[in-house]
Amino acid sequence: MKVAVLGFGTVGKGVYEMLAHADGLEQGPVLVRPGKADEPWKISDINGIVSDVSVGAVAEVMGGVEPAFSYCAAALKAGKHVVTSNKALVAAKGIELAALAREHKAAFLFSAACGGGVPFLHNLSLAVLSDRIESLGGILNGTTNYMLDAMQRRGLDYASALADAQRLGYAEADPTADVSGLDALRKIMLGCAVGFGLLPVEGLDCEGIESFSAADAADLKKRGLCCRLLARGGKSASGVYAYVEPMALGASAAECSVLDNFNMARYRGVNSGDIIMIGQGAGRWPTASAVLRDLSCILRGERAMLGAGCVSGKADNSGCAHSYYVRLPAGYAGRLPVKEAWRDGGDARVITEPVSVADMHALAAELRGSGAGIFFAALED
Ligand code: HSE
Repeated sequence: MKVAVLGFGTVGKGVYEMLAHADGLEQGPVLVRPGKADEPWKISDINGIVSDVSVGAVAEVMGGVEPAFSYCAAALKAGKHVVTSNKALVAAKGIELAALAREHKAAFLFSAACGGGVPFLHNLSLAVLSDRIESLGGILNGTTNYMLDAMQRRGLDYASALADAQRLGYAEADPTADVSGLDALRKIMLGCAVGFGLLPVEGLDCEGIESFSAADAADLKKRGLCCRLLARGGKSASGVYAYVEPMALGASAAECSVLDNFNMARYRGVNSGDIIMIGQGAGRWPTASAVLRDLSCILRGERAMLGAGCVSGKADNSGCAHSYYVRLPAGYAGRLPVKEAWRDGGDARVITEPVSVADMHALAAELRGSGAGIFFAALED
């Protein structure tokens, strides 16, 4: 099957090179920006790919919703299979693209959009056929895991850790999506869509690592804790819950042994129990390997990761609550149900009684709105 590659950045270059050595797959044209088609196999007009009958599949690795959506839709309408590593695209338009694929008897697979090389969505999409999924999530962003690990284990400051993650090809073109938690949020949205048939697009709570400082790292370390950015999704009374937030874990927790750009993705099935997968969650070769795995799955007959009944809807996080570790200006500590508190200059550091996820995220937004700084991390249940 000849595969056209849309995009020739970090992942696109990896996909193109892997195609040269993959069983049953061959290199097709590569879509690049106008003016960048400096090789005969590069092309800057999508119509040249869509109308090329020798192209059987398209690997979209350009990122962003448009023009990626229009290009993928055109390819599907032309009966070509589509695989993508683009979580922004699948979170915004996945249900539409899956319907187009069904209509045109083509495949639409996106396991590379979550977990880098980790076969998380791939396994989840198989598990839902015979098991009922109760919860899913984990460490789903390689950039922030790299940064948190570098800051806590190697003492790097935030800016140097981010610069290294960008240099190593882990971060998105705009790393705000990584550090704000949005990238992990999109991934948990996809997990919920595959695992529960509901793509939550509203009611989500998202906190990244932008407020995490060297002083936070030092204080957590003193208490035998380590910080990781966790995405969580699961069945709730009225549908699904889905949120992203830092978590402070006992140093012996499995998450704390997940280093560098690695991800730790997990799901719990009623029959399987906990399934945990660890591997590189970002970077050229891990992500390209996931794109190629999806293409190989197409050769074996796989066509869909989203069920025909998948709908978009609202997350319900109202049943989710934890104790939190919080750093905030001392004058605001009374806004939380304090279990233990201590001073750190003008700030208070607080361990709370259980607080709902929605209330904790809302308090942080309110404080930031009034110019105050706050860092919070959930504590283990
Ligand atoms: N920027 C993403 C990450 C790339 O760091 O996890 C892989 O999805």
